[in-house]
Amino acid sequence: MAKILLGFMGSGKTTVAKFLKGRVVDMDALIEEKIGMTISDFFAAKGEAAFRAIESETLEELLKLEGDTVISTGGGVVLSEKNRELLRQNRRNNVLLTTSFDVVYRRIQEDTHAQRPLFQTKSKEEFQDLFQRRMALYQDLADLVIHTDNRTPEEIARLITCM
Ligand code: S3P
Repeated sequence: MAKILLGFMGSGKTTVAKFLKGRVVDMDALIEEKIGMTISDFFAAKGEAAFRAIESETLEELLKLEGDTVISTGGGVVLSEKNRELLRQNRRNNVLLTTSFDVVYRRIQEDTHAQRPLFQTKSKEEFQDLFQRRMALYQDLADLVIHTDNRTPEEIARLITCM
């Protein structure tokens, strides 16, 4: 069965995943391999809907893998009802990383490696609104909620391993 890491952009899913042992798959990295370009370039070339279709197909494929896997998702994975249903079927294994909005906002601003198209096209107020709306969706699916503001990635990884 897969442990799934959920959370808004910048909540530390990818960083924490690096501290977990065993098979760990980063969905965004896998999608970038599939599409042969960055997610940001793909959004610009094909649009968000095309990205969401690949994201959904990738989630479905990963949930079919045999054995224990940790799947670090992209923050928008909870948007589609189909994905939410897949995640509901994974109950008891969904981990939500929460981070305060200010921390998320600063981290994304400072992240020169991963460009988030939804961050680039929204004002701070719009982005905060998105954060709040998304949080309700994550909370609905989460079996374990870890607040990350005052925890190191190692500590968070340990909590996830003990789950
Ligand atoms: C997105 C989050 C990103 C990435 C894409 C869309 C979102 O992943 O999948 O830019 O809609 O929240 P991270 O959560 O890893 O930043």
